[in-house]
Amino acid sequence: MKISITSSRSPWSGHSWFTKAFLWTYDWFALGFCCQFVWQCPSSYILKFYNEHISANHLDIGVGTGFFLDKCRFHVQLPSLVLLDLNPNMLEKAQKRLNRYHPQVYQMNIMESHPLSIPAFDSIGLSYILHCLPGTMATKEAVFQNIVPLLKPGGTVFGTTFLYKGVKRSPLATCAFWFTNLFRFMENKEDSLDALEQSLKKHFSEVYIERRGCAALFWARR
Ligand SMILES: C[S@@+](CC[C@H](N)C(=O)[O-])C[C@H]1O[C@@H](n2cnc3c(N)ncnc32)[C@H](O)[C@@H]1O
Repeated sequence: MKISITSSRSPWSGHSWFTKAFLWTYDWFALGFCCQFVWQCPSSYILKFYNEHISANHLDIGVGTGFFLDKCRFHVQLPSLVLLDLNPNMLEKAQKRLNRYHPQVYQMNIMESHPLSIPAFDSIGLSYILHCLPGTMATKEAVFQNIVPLLKPGGTVFGTTFLYKGVKRSPLATCAFWFTNLFRFMENKEDSLDALEQSLKKHFSEVYIERRGCAALFWARR
């Protein structure tokens, strides 16, 4: 069952790139080729990060095609899994792919605060969503504010995002950032490691960030 929570504002347009046809290429092109050769952060590294931080009671925000949840190792046979995304095509694809876990599915904009009457989670994933969101890290911080009530004390939020500002990168990556920002597939020209750290520290007491290629991998606890 999918629960839709309607948006009062017009949501960011970048997610509309994720049409059913585009989704066909996402895993091998975006997560395969681009992560390895353009952003220099292979997906195997992100998968390892998932395996380290995922719990048996997990919420995944901006779930995409469900690639990492499909491949990662849960520590129980039947985890409690909730998928949240703004884009219905993504949710449909991820739900089908992860059907074996009977996930609960929410279509909503995580930048907006909606009271969700669901029990809090032991882990929340934010994989490659922040660089898609509009505005600066100060604007994107709304996500952290909105998820704090959804995280159990002692629970972990973890994720990845591509940074632009202050990050050494190849000419190919610069070119790809230019293109993806132009078409609003990404909006990260102002995103830096410092800004990410400051935003996380406003909402969480323990924060860890590491950088690999153009990506920042982070986890945080309340
Ligand atoms: C680049 S994809 C990442 C997908 C997946 N997490 C991964 O790592 O492969 C970004 C995802 O975030 C979703 N998204 C973008 N803006 C959103 C928002 N405001 N609220 C919820 N989901 C959003 C998109 O629809 C898309 O599924």
